[in-house]
Amino acid sequence: MASRHFLSFFDLTRAEAAEVLARASELKRLRAQNILPLLFERKVLAMIFEKSSTRTRVSFESAMIEGGGGAIFLSLQDSQLGRGEPIGDTARVLSEMCDAIIARTYAHSTVEELAAQASVPVINALTDRLHPCQVLADLQTYQEHRGGIAGRKVAWIGDGNNMCNTYIEAAQVCDFELAISTPPEFVPPIQDFVRGDANVSWNRDPQSAVTGADLVVTDVWVSMGQEASADHRRALLNPYQVDSALMSHAKTDALFMHCLPAHRGEEVTAEVIDHVNSVVWDEAGNRLHAQKALLEFLLRS
Ligand code: CP
Ligand code: NVA
Repeated sequence: MASRHFLSFFDLTRAEAAEVLARASELKRLRAQNILPLLFERKVLAMIFEKSSTRTRVSFESAMIEGGGGAIFLSLQDSQLGRGEPIGDTARVLSEMCDAIIARTYAHSTVEELAAQASVPVINALTDRLHPCQVLADLQTYQEHRGGIAGRKVAWIGDGNNMCNTYIEAAQVCDFELAISTPPEFVPPIQDFVRGDANVSWNRDPQSAVTGADLVVTDVWVSMGQEASADHRRALLNPYQVDSALMSHAKTDALFMHCLPAHRGEEVTAEVIDHVNSVVWDEAGNRLHAQKALLEFLLRS
């Protein structure tokens, strides 16, 4: 049977996403009691990184260590990928020796090619197009603080980037409203991510997107790979900073999330990210639990 992959949020059904999120919270509760089930005993995870990472690398590596397995970090510099070995050949070789592969790449087509050639599960650890592991942790965090996200309003403010694209997918899988506000220059290609009914809108005015929101989310203005246009991006995105004035239009108990790393004074003020309604540290911590549950699910499927 072909392996299950997690390249996009659409790779999980609504029921499967609910199952993974519930399991993530259960594993988190067990860990708090010093109970670490050997989910990955003698399993090996290969981790390909074309770009930098703190949270994604550490959470996957910790997940494997805590679960009784191991993880191997492969950067371009230290592997034959950097010397031109095709990604498809790499996928076949790693499938002979490892039980699952994660990859953080520039082109989304690279993880698709990896998945097409691998005989083990492949997980998208961020591409220019999507970052589904992060949104899984975000939804776990929302659920733990406020209950299920179905029927709630999420406001995405700032750049229409890989995180925003993933929120468009997740809104459909998990049935929430998504109000996006970006500069017209950075509107995400919403229709590329819509399948059937979707409660997803775009408005250039951030206040209108945030009004009545249960959750406000932003991300960096300059994603990895966009450094050359940083000044231009910052100038256009400046009116989209999430500050207390903007948050005051959301519901009074609205949560704030940011996948991190954050730039206080750019996309978010210190007052908002360090506020009691900001759950960014839980959000980061939940990467560990959500990915354990995801790996367990994919390895079983
Ligand atoms: N949020 C996130 O993916 O962080 P890293 O880039 O540190 O992995
Ligand atoms: N949008 C950001 C997310 C970093 C975790 C980037 O791609 O750099």
